[in-house]
Amino acid sequence: MSPLDDPAREAAASAEPGFRAMLAARPHLALTEDGLAVEAVPLARIAAAHGTPTWVYSAAAITHRYRALADALGEAGLEARIHYAMKANDAEAIVTLLARQGAGADVVSEGERRIARHAGIAARDIVFSGVGKSEGELRSALADQVGQINVESAEELGMLSGIASAMGVKARIALRINPDVDAGTHAKITTGLAENKFGIPSADAIALYTHAASLPGIVPVGLAMHIGSQVTSLAPYRAAYGLLAALAGEVRAAGLPITLLDCGGGLGIPYRGEEVPSPAAFAAVLKETLGGLGLKIVIEPGRWIVGPAGILLARVVLQKQGEARRFVILDAAMNDLIRPSLYGAWHGILPITPARWRAALSPADVVGPVCESGDTFATGRALPDLGHGEIVALLDAGAYGSVMSSTYNARPLAAAVMVSGTVDAVIRDRQSFEAMRAGERLPPWLGPLLPPPAGPLAVPVPRR
Ligand SMILES: Cc1ncc(COP(=O)(O)O)c(C=O)c1O
Repeated sequence: MSPLDDPAREAAASAEPGFRAMLAARPHLALTEDGLAVEAVPLARIAAAHGTPTWVYSAAAITHRYRALADALGEAGLEARIHYAMKANDAEAIVTLLARQGAGADVVSEGERRIARHAGIAARDIVFSGVGKSEGELRSALADQVGQINVESAEELGMLSGIASAMGVKARIALRINPDVDAGTHAKITTGLAENKFGIPSADAIALYTHAASLPGIVPVGLAMHIGSQVTSLAPYRAAYGLLAALAGEVRAAGLPITLLDCGGGLGIPYRGEEVPSPAAFAAVLKETLGGLGLKIVIEPGRWIVGPAGILLARVVLQKQGEARRFVILDAAMNDLIRPSLYGAWHGILPITPARWRAALSPADVVGPVCESGDTFATGRALPDLGHGEIVALLDAGAYGSVMSSTYNARPLAAAVMVSGTVDAVIRDRQSFEAMRAGERLPPWLGPLLPPPAGPLAVPVPRR
């Protein structure tokens, strides 16, 4: 059976948003005479200047989305701070852009903390989260005087108190509570169920908070929660924050100090045109559940701010007609953008050439060149004929894209470019072969490493 005769695959293709619907939902993209553009920079220009695969980020989209969230919190009358979850995208340019907007940072490693500080975020505006912070990471965070450390277990609390006491300092902590609420998202990014490794059971919260207040190296300042990522309904937030409010009341009733509630991140984005909560609706839930407590609110969004602001630009290596399927093979792969392989995530794929938007569509599997069948960006996607050298944009790749890249199959990390209006700038060089292999050694018994082969490894192809 030809793929075009397969009703299931055709139905899957037709349930997807069309090119124009995808474009209309993404204000930072435009279809110009020169083809698809990010803000006012045609993607063909970026591909020609910098090659592919390349991450492209819209500065305006990042700023606009940050402001939309901040304004919604302000309009709801909340005393709230946004700590950008750097795990979503830790590019120095992106963190700096957000720092200039007034964002704090939610970090989960020594590396992220250092990037945040380098980008100009004050230590007091940093929340250090994570279920397994090492002693060294805790020590250096305390030495830097970070504003808040989110503690995820009784064991970590004891360890932190010991380290802080030995250093003669006090750690300002929030206890991360696991609310046992189903965020209704993918199992791999659900974090608020009892079976997940994150947080402290709510039944233990008050006893542990009381204990924390008695420890020499600890100053408890609040409670924290993060129920998961790509959350597309408000109901789990309402349930989790209701519990947070109740616990805050119990902390107060026990005569313990509390000044803030850290509500985590997780707000979802419409990858496939699905309904997602607006910032105003999310702020209304915060207001309704926590607004009357007189406590500061912290949120830690990552994906919502940067996800839609980035694309992955890739070139078609070739189109191959398999026995039952048409394959469009890109020069980007699962080592660049792993979300489809890891979570079955759906990303919009747009050809950047206007003529291709008018061409007939038929189902195609869009894949990368890595030697795994899981190296698949899309299955049965309605796309035009896409020949060698044509360029496509994989949409909504700004979050959990480049940060999750690897060099699997000895593929160097892709370049990254930021666009602002009519200008673009490289914000990360394409990794060289030498940089990718830096640090490789032979054990002494195998003798010295041979010098690298002279000259380029492949005959360069002229850029179009
Ligand atoms: C503790 C914590 N805060 C914030 C986030 C950011 O989530 P998102 O990017 O979905 O907003 C995460 C991500 O999983 C997280 O683990």
